[in-house]
Amino acid sequence: VRASRAAVPTVKLPVAAAAPVDAAALARVLAPGTTSCMLPAAAYLDDGVLAWERTHLFAKAWVCAGRADDLGAVGARRAVEVGDDAVLLVRGEDGVLRGFYDVCRHRAHELAPCGGATTAHRSIRCPYHGWRYGLDGALLATPHFEAAADFDRSGHALVPVRTVEWHGWVMVNAGGGAAPLDEFLAGLEPHVVDHEPERLAVGATHSYELAANWKLVIENYQECLHCPSIHPELCRVSPSTSGENALGHEGFWVGGWQDLLPPAVTMSLTGESPTVPLPGLRGDARRRIDYLGLLPNLLVSLHPDYVMTHRIEPLAPGRTAVECQWLFAPEDLERPGFDPSFAVDFWDLTNRQDWAACESVQRGVSSRGFRQGPFSTAEDAVAQFVRLVARAYQSGGWARC
Ligand code: FES
Ligand SMILES: [Fe+2]
Repeated sequence: VRASRAAVPTVKLPVAAAAPVDAAALARVLAPGTTSCMLPAAAYLDDGVLAWERTHLFAKAWVCAGRADDLGAVGARRAVEVGDDAVLLVRGEDGVLRGFYDVCRHRAHELAPCGGATTAHRSIRCPYHGWRYGLDGALLATPHFEAAADFDRSGHALVPVRTVEWHGWVMVNAGGGAAPLDEFLAGLEPHVVDHEPERLAVGATHSYELAANWKLVIENYQECLHCPSIHPELCRVSPSTSGENALGHEGFWVGGWQDLLPPAVTMSLTGESPTVPLPGLRGDARRRIDYLGLLPNLLVSLHPDYVMTHRIEPLAPGRTAVECQWLFAPEDLERPGFDPSFAVDFWDLTNRQDWAACESVQRGVSSRGFRQGPFSTAEDAVAQFVRLVARAYQSGGWARC
């Protein structure tokens, strides 16, 4: 479910460096020697906090704008929403995927509608008065435009947005100031590389919209303390107390892994898989699932035989869109009769169980009876995430804590 941009009123006012969140409440989250505690209610309810987060958490980070699978051909392009802005992704003559703000340099018409189909042409033509740009953003033609004598085409190229392909996902830094992606995600590569996600293709996509703050989706994803209570099917194939969290790295990601419970070979309702482990995986990697949360908006779940992602988009303080995708090896997807439902059905059920919990917590944090509840040691990855957010609220952007 994609909310239209018009349905999400965002007013771009100057936003102060520190978030409009009570300092004493943040001090409780960051208190040394504790297991930390939840963020204060304003973090989940306040329009001003979400506006601040869009400017300081999303625009200052590498935000996932989806897969690049359909953008392989020269000239292929698609406009996507990234935070509160729109970006036109275009594959250049040189094979490089570039991003440009989706706005014409003449009178600011959008170059392509967000959420529209992928198309391919040799140039980029504005639909309003026909200005034409090259795939590298250079202004090539201004039909019927009787320009002033000092008009200089070279000063009217499309405005680029930092864009990088990472294992087949498109990562965009709309604000331009984030550390290079490999620094921003320091320590993550060894967890991902053997699955070769860049080789995989999307076998299924589900779009959800839930009545909960975007951070609650990440907090819920980062612990399995709730699994015995709400995920009986999950607990049959993976022990909720197994695995560890990867702490002590420098990157802006949180996560860890859990083991499969024999005889299960993957996360499915029966524990069975219609395929074999991905070819790069050896030993323990065939017996576990890595759950990685890339801040601020991509959850990557690496299974022995498939990869699942949740791409998170805040729509309002209490409303979040989640795009869930299941990626499989191309040889699986091409095999006659291959049915991805073993993975899709399991996680669709689990997703819905999780969304119900997140929505209940959203209602809870809006109660007058809400107080910042404590985390256990088993919720250390949740604590790591909310501490990073609290630290950012204090300092004006992502910072180690
Ligand atoms: S606004 Fe694009 S050509 Fe006029
Ligand atoms: Fe869950």
